[in-house]
Amino acid sequence: MEIISKIKRIFQRQKDWSAREAYKIWSETYDSEQDNLILFYDNIILKEFLSKINFKEKTILDYGCGTGRNWQEIFNHNPGKIIGCDISPEMLSKVKIKFPNAETHLLQNEKLTFLADKSCDIIISTLVIAHIKNLNNLFREWNRVIRDKSEIIITDLHPQILENGGSRSFHVVTNSGSYNDKTVTIKNFIHKINKIEKLLHQSGFRTSDLIEKKIDEDVKLFYEKKNAIGVYERFKGLPFIYGLYLTR
Ligand SMILES: C[S@@+](CC[C@H](N)C(=O)[O-])C[C@H]1O[C@@H](n2cnc3c(N)ncnc32)[C@H](O)[C@@H]1O
Repeated sequence: MEIISKIKRIFQRQKDWSAREAYKIWSETYDSEQDNLILFYDNIILKEFLSKINFKEKTILDYGCGTGRNWQEIFNHNPGKIIGCDISPEMLSKVKIKFPNAETHLLQNEKLTFLADKSCDIIISTLVIAHIKNLNNLFREWNRVIRDKSEIIITDLHPQILENGGSRSFHVVTNSGSYNDKTVTIKNFIHKINKIEKLLHQSGFRTSDLIEKKIDEDVKLFYEKKNAIGVYERFKGLPFIYGLYLTR
């Protein structure tokens, strides 16, 4: 029995978790992540893009909104309305705690059945795209719900770091039964930035801005704080996050 449970533990450590099962657990601590390099730079990139947009009376779809981490930032720009959607009921439940009147929708697949054709002005999707296997279906649906004059913001882990063995992971710190005190790695799919651009350019969007941030001296402190300088040395020089701002 002891050997079987040891093998089980090793297997669990190595297996990438599906987004659905991972965010069920991560939802508990996601908003209190400390010194998280990705979340820190994601926020910088998002702020830069938001500053270029006129939000007056605009309807925003936050695709894969998670806990609504970015919502206060977006509300600061006085938009008409924010609609959030996600595949994780646990992540969405956190939005409702922070913003009780929030409109959120639990997704079963990429279909945005709750939205009429051409009903959104801006789609924001931060740190989600690499969780999605097939972008064709997703972008077809985005193209259905977004108005002719519209904007899209996408950020995510950089495909180059994923190609080189980087991953999206978190440390389980809550008392979540057998998963307590372990690092969970979540399944990602590698989508090259130029492939994403090409797909959206086919719907008439053009790239207004592309931000890429590399692992360099600026970010060394994040690794030092996590006692992970070996990881820093391994990935130094590689871009770890990107942001795309597209307009039409
Ligand atoms: C790293 S979190 C990002 C959440 C939020 N956008 C943010 O920036 O904090 C990734 C989110 O994507 C959601 N997600 C994963 N796969 C998805 C899919 N196929 N469609 C929509 N959301 C998905 C997860 O449930 C999770 O809430």
